[in-house]
Amino acid sequence: MSGSEGSKDQQAAKLDLLHAAVAASVRYIEADRNGVVSPTPEALAQLGAFSQVSVDSPISPEAALEMLETIGSPATMRQNSGRYFGFVNGGVTPVALAASVLSGTWDQNAALPAMSPAAAAIDGAAAEMIVDVLGLPAESTASFCGGATLANITGIVTGRDHLYAQAGWDIHTKGLAGAPPLQVIVSEEAHVSVTKTLRIAGFGSDTITYVPADSSGRMDADAMPDVDGPALLILQAGNVNTGHSDPFRTIIERLDRSNTWVHVDGAFGLWANAVPERRHHVEGVELADSWATDGHKWLNAPYDCGVVVCRHPEALKHSMLMSAAYVEANDERTAMSLGLQMSQAARAVPVWAILASEGRAGIAASIESSCVAAERFGEQLTAAGVELLAPVVINQVLVAFGSDEATDAIVRAVQESAVCWVGGTTFQGRRAMRISVSDMSTTHDDVDAAVASILEAMAQVSC
Ligand SMILES: Cc1ncc(COP(=O)(O)O)c(C=O)c1O
Repeated sequence: MSGSEGSKDQQAAKLDLLHAAVAASVRYIEADRNGVVSPTPEALAQLGAFSQVSVDSPISPEAALEMLETIGSPATMRQNSGRYFGFVNGGVTPVALAASVLSGTWDQNAALPAMSPAAAAIDGAAAEMIVDVLGLPAESTASFCGGATLANITGIVTGRDHLYAQAGWDIHTKGLAGAPPLQVIVSEEAHVSVTKTLRIAGFGSDTITYVPADSSGRMDADAMPDVDGPALLILQAGNVNTGHSDPFRTIIERLDRSNTWVHVDGAFGLWANAVPERRHHVEGVELADSWATDGHKWLNAPYDCGVVVCRHPEALKHSMLMSAAYVEANDERTAMSLGLQMSQAARAVPVWAILASEGRAGIAASIESSCVAAERFGEQLTAAGVELLAPVVINQVLVAFGSDEATDAIVRAVQESAVCWVGGTTFQGRRAMRISVSDMSTTHDDVDAAVASILEAMAQVSC
């Protein structure tokens, strides 16, 4: 077979498989599994089939795709059903799904403009839109990564390097050993991804100051330690359990900004700043130096997609710079020198498609609709006598049902009913049910069905 015949065959195979994959995707969307959100035990029991395929006896591409559809699809969580309220897992909007199919077909490496002019142009455009829609300072730059954990690492490492550089310590040549003192301050309610980030950035837990938080998970501004030298302060927009944010303005305006770097972990809560009705919950968030957020949570971009925004683009570039003889350096925006990864998916493509087609007003309306749905949960559950552990301010609802045992039993019963999916957590010493409205497609009917399922579980457990 000649080379060109081979590539024609490949092309035909690609098209056949792509049609088959699109058809399977359409069937997935159309089959609503009778409103059941989580997989049945029968579907889960089939999953072992994936590890029964061996690399010594491969199956055809068609058979692989068929297994993905017949065994994989039924064992997924219906994250886009409008009734998945677990973790802070967002859905995917129609245009984002469509754009990611096209972008997957392009198979671009977005590391460098030379690798993909299209990916680079879209990356730059989406980054500007993100800064704008989030109401962050216009001089900031944004870059895309795998999630808010990576965005936290990027922002915090940039802040660390910048503060050391200001103190005359070039971390790139001298490393961390013997570095001048740097105060690291976080809330005791910081997300685990911040704890992990600080570990990776070289700050052991014994060297960190933890500031107490109030009963909604907001850092207590009056409990902030005195800051008398270079300091890295990590604040939070959107506590993972309650959705409440730290009092940014009060805390930041008390600092000497000449030798402090404020990073905000805003994995989902930063999006409140895109919504006029919710902005007051994150008041002053724009005063920080760097921010981490996610596209795959509340923006409903597909997985995986995180975003770091930095007010000091030169500091970000200094920390993240990567150069090699085979990589031509010029003044163009270069994704691999604005983040941790070299090769990377063109994650900005679906983000750009969402922002370009929804616009400022559309995004604000979609996010607000999640907040209204969360409030509806709060109102209906409290009307039924359920205890709300913190006021609903954005998209998170945190409730408890008397004892820890009863709460755990009700969470389990709701999960088993599969009408919706909610998670369990421990918040300030108490077991709680977390309801996160992060799929923009959630309707009032979805909320009502979920509340009915929770109340039914409550009745079952109390009998
Ligand atoms: C407040 C907060 N920060 C960081 C993260 C980590 O985000 P990711 O899973 O995208 O890395 C989460 C995840 O839920 C979060 O809620």
